[in-house]
Amino acid sequence: MDEQYDYGVIGLGTMGRNLILNMSDCGFSVAGFDQDEAKVSALREASEGRSIFCTTRLDKFLSALASPRAILLLVPAGKTVDTVIRELLPELQPGDLLADCGNSHFSDTDRRFSELSSKGIRFMGIGVSGGASGARYGPSIMPGGAREDYLRLALVLEAIAAKVGGIPCVGWLGPRSAGHYVKMVHNGIEYGLMQLIAETYHLLREAGGLNNDDLHETFAGWNQGRLRSFLIGITANIFLQPDELSDNRLIDMIRGSARQKGTGMWTSQNAFDMHVPIPVIDMAVTQRDMSAREKERSAASSLYRASANEPGDRKSLTLIAEEALYFATIIAYAQGMSLLHSASESYGYELNFSEVAGLWRGGCIIRAALLEDIRTAYAQNPSLPNLLLDGTFAEKLEAAQESTRHIVKLAVDNGIPIPAMMACLSYFDSYRRDWLPANLIQAQRDYFGAHTYERIDREGTFHTKWSDEFKAD
Ligand code: 6PG
Repeated sequence: MDEQYDYGVIGLGTMGRNLILNMSDCGFSVAGFDQDEAKVSALREASEGRSIFCTTRLDKFLSALASPRAILLLVPAGKTVDTVIRELLPELQPGDLLADCGNSHFSDTDRRFSELSSKGIRFMGIGVSGGASGARYGPSIMPGGAREDYLRLALVLEAIAAKVGGIPCVGWLGPRSAGHYVKMVHNGIEYGLMQLIAETYHLLREAGGLNNDDLHETFAGWNQGRLRSFLIGITANIFLQPDELSDNRLIDMIRGSARQKGTGMWTSQNAFDMHVPIPVIDMAVTQRDMSAREKERSAASSLYRASANEPGDRKSLTLIAEEALYFATIIAYAQGMSLLHSASESYGYELNFSEVAGLWRGGCIIRAALLEDIRTAYAQNPSLPNLLLDGTFAEKLEAAQESTRHIVKLAVDNGIPIPAMMACLSYFDSYRRDWLPANLIQAQRDYFGAHTYERIDREGTFHTKWSDEFKAD
């Protein structure tokens, strides 16, 4: 009998190819399949001398796998996943395991999980973060599905994952779509953090007059401190990148119109469904949409007076900007974690939040020094509804709130849009108040629609005939 391979990978694009090479480095034998001959050739070239088999023939791929088969899907999320599953299904045996490692919507994962389970096929939804180099040298991996299926893959997943202090950034998160849900929220936080960094750049550039070298130095310095993270690190590098096609830095030659594949928007859509406020993520999605309206913005820019930028003292500006970014970064993680908290209850995921924060410490796009503190906070209180209620985080936010207010005032005075930063401050100011003016909203609802209200001094629901003009009852 020909060699039987431990694992199969379908989809030999950059992510699939790099994961296979990573698995092979860790001593696993892998077979890869793709219909695209060019991708198969690229893997063949990269895998010389390794125990990797790759083919454009599905039948050969399937018969090369040890039974029961364990197959990772690295194909674009959406319809392609369904198409691949449809083609595979007649060839699979009960007990075979399919693990979708793309950015699938969690509701698709739930649907596929039930459809395949009813046919005896095991199915998992696995979030993988870290881009191409993460896949090659150690991603953060967020698996959801049946625990026993995770155990079938645990050896290889733990081997290929990023490690922090020797601990692999992977672990079974929960049933069904738990892994893809956590990956969606990871991406929502990613959107929030990227927008906050971009707003800080805008402010430093326009209100502080920092050039690209100054910006590099500032972000590189921040990356040595409490803001240390993958995103701050790559931001520092970006400012130095020369442009091959002009004499400028590349950053100044890139159009300011952001694209998106949808995972940030899904996070916001789901948060609305769940009634969980995550305004920094909402604002990040909104600002990507705003950035894409280039023509309208350009027309509007000639209609309205430009704001006067009055550069302040650079040193103090960068100091307070660091504090404000730290403050807002905490709020972005807090909002993402609070969404996970609600989803865990609503969808029965029973997430371990400390473990989630733990496996985000390495390999993924939102890895950051701060995640160690978040992990500790949830380890101390696993049912913490919001990081803002943790004593250590309360101290951090308390210490940074004044600077955040300064930054917001400065941005307002200079007409520089920093809506995500403002959303973080408003979230903080709302969350920390025991009184919000929603009594008036309730009164208005009852006034025009007899929707009733509750009182602060007695139980029950009440309706008032507010005026003869409105005879709703
Ligand atoms: C990751 C990234 C990855 C991808 C984003 C980009 O964790 O490795 O999140 O999944 O880069 O989905 O998303 P947008 O195209 O929506 O910005």
